[in-house]
Amino acid sequence: MKIGILSAMPEENNLISSKIEQRSVTSLGTRDYVEGTLAGKKVIAAFSRWGKVAAAQAATTMITKFGAEKIIFTGVAGAASPELEIGDVVIGRDLIQHDMDASAIPAFQRFEIPLLGITHFKADHELIQIAEEAAREYLHTILSGDIPISSLEKYGIHSPNIILGTIATGDQFIADEEKIRALRADIPNLKCIEMEGAAVAQVCHEHQVPFVVIRAISDKANANAIHDFPHFVSSIVRHYSYGIVSGMLKKVNS
Ligand code: ADE
Repeated sequence: MKIGILSAMPEENNLISSKIEQRSVTSLGTRDYVEGTLAGKKVIAAFSRWGKVAAAQAATTMITKFGAEKIIFTGVAGAASPELEIGDVVIGRDLIQHDMDASAIPAFQRFEIPLLGITHFKADHELIQIAEEAAREYLHTILSGDIPISSLEKYGIHSPNIILGTIATGDQFIADEEKIRALRADIPNLKCIEMEGAAVAQVCHEHQVPFVVIRAISDKANANAIHDFPHFVSSIVRHYSYGIVSGMLKKVNS
């Protein structure tokens, strides 16, 4: 069993890839795919790059060329639910493409992926469970020794929460409270927004590959997002991703 690990941020992928043992690197189409073992499991890791097309390309390559049989996707997201704070973790139960709208054609509803007849892609139940356990272990027992307290305090990260729900994906960085309010009204149980997850979910659905998307909240998708996002990415997210992914690999069936 080979597990694909895709990261939305180069900082995450660099740390995860650097820990892979017996590694071999294949450069293909602007990405390096790093194969080897991590936590005793066969893995392949890559930087997805940004946006739906880039993420779909990376996921397709992992599955069809490198034989990934499960996909774990990590990254950051903007909060869409008021219960979320910077530093919390969202695990997607289902993923939706918030900018997909072919409803001018009466056969389709808003958000429906034409010809698949699907609006929400469901993540794998077992991977969700393992992600939740690994996130709990990392955030509650490892985090405070892993990241300097000064960095955590800068973001007010004390005891981060883990929340399961719907993640919405679109080719937009959102820094607008009104847009988020509108998406929340239109997408029940929406927790956060990002730019890759539902594209990876669609590729996994089409290839029947189990997947999970794990997102650390880097900003609240409001006017402060353009400042909060880069700071969180540069100092925090790689620790979250490696901590959670390595914890998951110890638990995953393979
Ligand atoms: N990823 C992290 N923050 C985001 C935001 N505000 N919009 C889209 N993707 C994001």
